[in-house]
Amino acid sequence: MCGIIGCVTRSRDIVPVLIEGLKRVEYRGYDSAGIAAIERGGELGIRKVEGKIDKLVALVDEHPIEGPTGVGHTRWATHGVPSELNAHPQTDATGKIALVHNGIVENYNALRRSLEAKGYAFRSETDTEVLANLISENYDGNLEAAVQAAFAGVQGAYGIAVICADEPGKLVGARNGSPLVVGIGADAYYVASDVAALVRHTRDVVYLDDLEMVVATPDGFSTTTLENEDITKDIEKVTWNIDMIEKNGFPHFMLKEIFEQERTVQDAMRGRLIAAAGDAILGGLRDHRRALQNAERIIIIACGTSWHSALIGEYMIEDLGRISVEVEYASEFRYRNPVINPGDIAIVISQSGETLDTLAAMTEAQRRGATVIGIVNVVGSTIARQSDGGVYTHAGLEIGVASTKAFTSQLTVLAAMALMLGRSRDISVTEGRQIVRAMEAIPGQIAEILSRHESIKDIGTRYARHTNFLYLGRGYNFPVALEGALKLKEISYIHAEGYPAAEMKHGPIALIDERMPVVVIAPQDAFYEKILSNMQEVKARGGRIIAITSEGDDQVEKMADDVIEIPRTLPHLTPILSVIPLQLLAYHMAVERDCHVDQPRNLAKSVTVE
Ligand code: G6P
Repeated sequence: MCGIIGCVTRSRDIVPVLIEGLKRVEYRGYDSAGIAAIERGGELGIRKVEGKIDKLVALVDEHPIEGPTGVGHTRWATHGVPSELNAHPQTDATGKIALVHNGIVENYNALRRSLEAKGYAFRSETDTEVLANLISENYDGNLEAAVQAAFAGVQGAYGIAVICADEPGKLVGARNGSPLVVGIGADAYYVASDVAALVRHTRDVVYLDDLEMVVATPDGFSTTTLENEDITKDIEKVTWNIDMIEKNGFPHFMLKEIFEQERTVQDAMRGRLIAAAGDAILGGLRDHRRALQNAERIIIIACGTSWHSALIGEYMIEDLGRISVEVEYASEFRYRNPVINPGDIAIVISQSGETLDTLAAMTEAQRRGATVIGIVNVVGSTIARQSDGGVYTHAGLEIGVASTKAFTSQLTVLAAMALMLGRSRDISVTEGRQIVRAMEAIPGQIAEILSRHESIKDIGTRYARHTNFLYLGRGYNFPVALEGALKLKEISYIHAEGYPAAEMKHGPIALIDERMPVVVIAPQDAFYEKILSNMQEVKARGGRIIAITSEGDDQVEKMADDVIEIPRTLPHLTPILSVIPLQLLAYHMAVERDCHVDQPRNLAKSVTVE
């Protein structure tokens, strides 16, 4: 969703830094963009566009601004349509204060009305313009004091960066519920909503927590609470390098990330499997191993692709760990009246670690007494820091909006967790060793699937003009069917539905004819015979089948129109392999249809609003 970058230096022009920073957070999804800089004459220069950053670059080329202090923003519309007027930065009535803001102000109407009663007029429909005027109303020559006074009355989520033409060498940032990180450069200080925006300039960062703020000048920075108490924050090192935010020769980030999975799955298990003991050790769960072992019930909470991992995690933990598991959509859990019993464990899964519904559901689970374990990709993210214990997936920065490598890393971590639980209950050392061996073989097997890329591309290209798809799977591969269908709709805008194969006859079968391709995930597992029957039902109605099968399977080959083979592994590890051809199919159909693969319409990488 929205992205923030702000920068203050002594004399360098920071406009190129702002633009480059915005490009780095483009992947989060946005529909307008803008920058503001305090120009050398002391005036605020602002450039905003509806649409993409290229349009902003063209505008700045035509009407340049430059200065050593500034802020920039990519906006994903919430209050008010995407338009130049509603784009950020928003300014106050005097035109001296420029503010960029992520999040939603809940008491926006009340604040706006009280400002209107004082004579303020508003040009935009945004809550951000209300905030800019609220700061202005409280401004008395000191920007940080005005921010503190203004936000005392603000309810809701925000991450902000603000500058004021009357204090040209100052940048102020604050957060509550929306991430903000401070970057410490050689000759500049930065604030950003996402480390990707500043990693080109520095790897030294400070993560702000809720209700904290930062004041940066060319000489240094200080952190306080929003109530003006000094706080000392640790400076942390970002471990990424610039390669991780480049496409490295791939046409899209999504394809690059699909191809990274051989390594990222390896990274997700690195140092966590113990071959001799046939066990797994997850450092972040050390303090919770006993609580997990004794848990009567685990609730896994997530959204989107992470929710599909949760479904597979449910099967893994019940199968191997013999603990009862329930899976919940975060958005439902947070507003229900869920029963949490003493000793219940909640696992939250999130790539970004910032999804608002997941965060709220986690807070609710904690309030009701559950221990919360996070399975998170983004290091230092809010969910990672708020959970009681957790495991990082180590997939590295995922830029393509459609999640790929984060998914397989989540599955790898869940498999390690299930093994750990299983070993403390029913799984023998011999079985544990067999699982470890199978897990260690997965990265090589991913490479094997990726080596079949060209033939998968051919299938994707041939089927790209169909408008409806059905995805079927059973057991561990039912959630994979859901994920395959989600990938396709997200990036190619083709309607697709995932179903447990046996449910087909309770409805979807009515849709099947020669215009409805059916993707069947049919590895040789316990459901094999059953899924062959489901395939026959499809064939009998003239449906076309693309099948994902185990290597060397000639039965499926006879029935399917197209076949993609995957190497054999243990049933609970199959999803890590079977999803990869589905990612590639979705990718190639989207490319064939000329879709914007990395930034599909209306979607955001990190959903920080309800
Ligand atoms: C958005 C993204 C999805 C992601 C979901 C949950 O919808 O586009 O790719 O699966 O949010 O995000 P999280 O970061 O919590 O895993």
